[in-house]
Amino acid sequence: MRVVLRDICKGFGPVQAIDGISLAFEPGEIHALLGENGAGKTTLMNILYGLYQPDSGTIEIGGAARRIRSPGDAIALGVGMIHQHFTLIPVMTVAENLILGESRADRWHLDRRHASDEIAAFSQHHRLPVDPDVPVWQLPVGTQQRVEILKALRRGAQTLILDEPTAVLTPQEVEELFTVLRGFRESGRAVVFISHKLHEVMTISDRVTVLRHGRVAGTTQTECTDPASLTRLMIGREVDTDWVRPPFTPGSVCLSVNDLVVRNDRDRDAVRGVSLQVHRGEILGIAGVDGNGQGELAETLTGLRRSVSGKIRIRDRDITDASIAEIAEQGIAHIPQDRQKTGLVSGFSVEENLMLDAGMLRRRSRNGLLDLVAIRAETERLMETYDIRARDSRQAVSALSGGNQQKVVLARALSRRPDVLIAFNPTRGVDVNATDEIHRRLLEHRAAGAAILLISTELEEIYRLSDRIAVMLDGRIVGIVEAGTPRQEVGRLMAGAV
Ligand SMILES: Nc1ncnc2c1ncn2[C@@H]1O[C@H](COP(=O)(O)OP(=O)(O)OP(=O)(O)O)[C@@H](O)[C@H]1O
Ligand SMILES: [Mg+2]
Repeated sequence: MRVVLRDICKGFGPVQAIDGISLAFEPGEIHALLGENGAGKTTLMNILYGLYQPDSGTIEIGGAARRIRSPGDAIALGVGMIHQHFTLIPVMTVAENLILGESRADRWHLDRRHASDEIAAFSQHHRLPVDPDVPVWQLPVGTQQRVEILKALRRGAQTLILDEPTAVLTPQEVEELFTVLRGFRESGRAVVFISHKLHEVMTISDRVTVLRHGRVAGTTQTECTDPASLTRLMIGREVDTDWVRPPFTPGSVCLSVNDLVVRNDRDRDAVRGVSLQVHRGEILGIAGVDGNGQGELAETLTGLRRSVSGKIRIRDRDITDASIAEIAEQGIAHIPQDRQKTGLVSGFSVEENLMLDAGMLRRRSRNGLLDLVAIRAETERLMETYDIRARDSRQAVSALSGGNQQKVVLARALSRRPDVLIAFNPTRGVDVNATDEIHRRLLEHRAAGAAILLISTELEEIYRLSDRIAVMLDGRIVGIVEAGTPRQEVGRLMAGAV
């Protein structure tokens, strides 16, 4: 069914998030939506999915004008949406999650066996295999996403919206997702694909629409465009990404990890004897497929998780299993993997989130009282420096676009001028231009003598920034190579070849 948006407008207070957008999604087409952080991509799709009401404009589906008052209405009209953050219930099994909310749920409740058989058959039929009886929290992210897609399909989705689906996937999972999306195209469904990764857009989409400041900057056939033209449409100029990293002049060892062993939530060894050293003025990149212990390593280094054995030292101080506050005191800052879980308090304002750290509060208090004037000035300076686009510093971070939330996390970490920075996928969900900005800032901190441990699932990012590259596989560092080592070499290490 053809979906046509006509002259849609939506404002949030003084912010005109969507400013007169007309756009059509055709059956049998993969349509990419591109645009800077805050351009309006998610808002526009939330309107189509019934989460927001437009201030004006109409939506036609299958040739008739429709009022979509809720996601229930959208689903009834064949529109499904997979959000940037999943909506599954972690403690329930795949089958329970899929059956939840279906009108026949009561009957299934009595017949678990039948439910799980049916889900198994359904997932096979759509070539999206999952084990129906596994609790969702035990599944890798790519599989959780598959469950979300199955959920939309069970509800009869003909138009499927995916908001930055690849941000959390491994390259292998991205390939699998693309195969699934091509299948949807074949079966006559319409797919709306949102991503900041231009090469993905070039690979998977048939047409691409660029949004800019809540308007359509242009729609083209993908085969008639290229990444440079798309960037120009997105931000009005090209981004020069050809700069060369300044040479590496390492100082003394600032962070050292010795034979560290850490268990994961399932009580299995996730980090199995990792040793590494990061010098002042150095970026050590950790490359690896997601889920090879990088998360547990980062959490242990920043006090969020205890170790089983091993030592962590910052300068010559032992900080193994010290508290989060003690570790922060020693000058470690953290850009966490999951900004929703450990990065931000979403109901708090930008200001509160930026000040959320003891050191900052102490510096900004006088006689035990917060110096609100100084705090506001500091917050505004950070918002300006890091180009955080919010209405003002008192706006809740939950109202910021995904990329702007990530900039809040980054600004907080870097503004502490840490000696050691643990940066986990620092540019996740951030647009092309802001990614370049963040990369430059990380290099500035390196030049200022910080020791940076960059954990990233983007090999591109690792190569761009790292002075040395360590490859993590199955809880171990399986090799450390110099910058400039051919990518095949690192790829082979990541895949477990010797
Ligand atoms: N609930 C809300 N309340 C207030 N403002 C909002 C709300 N939701 C979105 N906005 C604003 O609308 C604008 C568009 O945001 P949106 O999330 O659609 O951007 P986006 O293109 O998806 O960006 P990103 O690439 O960062 O995800 C932003 O200025 C954002 O702050
Ligand atoms: Mg968004």
